[in-house]
Amino acid sequence: MKKYVINGQKKLSGTVAVSGAKNVALKVIIAACLTDEPVTIENIPLISDVFVMLELIKEIGGTYKIEDHTVTIHVPEIKNTEISLESGAKTKTSSMFLAPLLARAKKAKIPNPGGCRIGARPIDRHIEGLEKMGATIGYHSEDGYFNASTEGLKGVEYTFDKNTHTGTETLIIAASTATGTTIIKNAAEESEIDDLIAFLNSMGAKINRSGYREITIDGVEKLHGTTYSIMSDSNEVVTWAILAALSGGEIKITKVNPEPIKIFLEKFKEAGGNWEANADEYRLYVSDIKALSIQTGIYPGFMTDWQGPWALFETQGRGVSVIHETIYENRFGYVSELKKMGAKIKFFTPEVDNPSEFYNFNIENGKSPENQAIEISGPTTLHDAIVKVTDLRAGATLVLAALIAKGKTIIYGVEQIERGYEDFAGRLAMLGADIEVIEEA
Ligand code: EPU
Repeated sequence: MKKYVINGQKKLSGTVAVSGAKNVALKVIIAACLTDEPVTIENIPLISDVFVMLELIKEIGGTYKIEDHTVTIHVPEIKNTEISLESGAKTKTSSMFLAPLLARAKKAKIPNPGGCRIGARPIDRHIEGLEKMGATIGYHSEDGYFNASTEGLKGVEYTFDKNTHTGTETLIIAASTATGTTIIKNAAEESEIDDLIAFLNSMGAKINRSGYREITIDGVEKLHGTTYSIMSDSNEVVTWAILAALSGGEIKITKVNPEPIKIFLEKFKEAGGNWEANADEYRLYVSDIKALSIQTGIYPGFMTDWQGPWALFETQGRGVSVIHETIYENRFGYVSELKKMGAKIKFFTPEVDNPSEFYNFNIENGKSPENQAIEISGPTTLHDAIVKVTDLRAGATLVLAALIAKGKTIIYGVEQIERGYEDFAGRLAMLGADIEVIEEA
């Protein structure tokens, strides 16, 4: 087990470059399996989730070579269509291998996916879409595997009941080499999906956004190799932005793509923040933080990934702010830990008309879920504590909290953070943070 020991309230300054987007890297690695030619992906973040996916490439019979932030993947032939439980359970995206395995080998055996513990995270929407494309998929509760097979994926018109980011991507990957045309309706709009589409198109796919929340894929017989550089990580930008603002505004962030974080910048301004931008370099600052309430939403709404850092930001805001989480049913893992550090946060259950439609997660019996919102009273001086990370973004929130808190905070479970932030501790130390990484037996 690894922990971070952070001595807070050090002066932070300098320049930090945003890494390549985790939520693109993981999907382009999967999409690279659609061709028997080598595929080179640049700007890959060196994070543990990426290495899990690369191990899965080896499991199915491919190879990879990684040099600095460039990885070359080559899957000349699918030799194995089963993803092992051990690797599969490490990240939710392992289940997305269903798409290239069905496309190229016509069968797949995938363990029930793992990943961050931020709710039930089922993949029913992915499964239903693939079934409509001609796959037969059964879940065996005795061994915890999905068994899938097809006589050949074929194009369909399919409407997702509810928004799904990775579900949309699974269908895009599956449809790229399916027979005929697939039209995905109520498709998710995240910019990471556009990057995946551009990547697949550079391999010879024919995919376009044909309307509002609609994607059309004309299946092609064969895809070829490519060299592609993925976009920078918008969730990481928001993490650095909150740190920059809370630590006095001396941090400059480079490789910022402002488009996907438009709503964050809007809310940041409303809460009293501002920034200077020079090409892709941003310096964010704030002197007096106002309480401001937000509700997470599907793209282009306020992303669920940002609500933890935003909650920390509002512990320093004047007044009472509310955060209503609508995408996941369990994404407040940082709350109990921030409270140990002195934050004043209370859970409550907001009134919602028709919760089954309102929330993005599946709801049994139409019953409104409890404690989907928090109320934060600020400003509060945070102090040291011993805290535990429950998931990736909660982990980043706690690290940021420890950096602005008085005293020495110990954070356990930081492996979760390293799933998604490359060399987080090293980059923080470069900015002047007093952070020690300790491996415990
Ligand atoms: N859902 C279902 N059934 C499905 C698919 C989704 O019930 O078949 C539920 C999910 O459990 C969740 C909601 O629907 O409650 C939304 O799920 P969605 O499929 O949109 O999100 P995801 O694929 O689970 C991706 C990112 C998340 C990011 C969300 C929202 C990846 C690997 N993960 O998750 O990123 O928060 O979209 O944009 O792309 C992270 O990076 O920390 C992270 C969790």
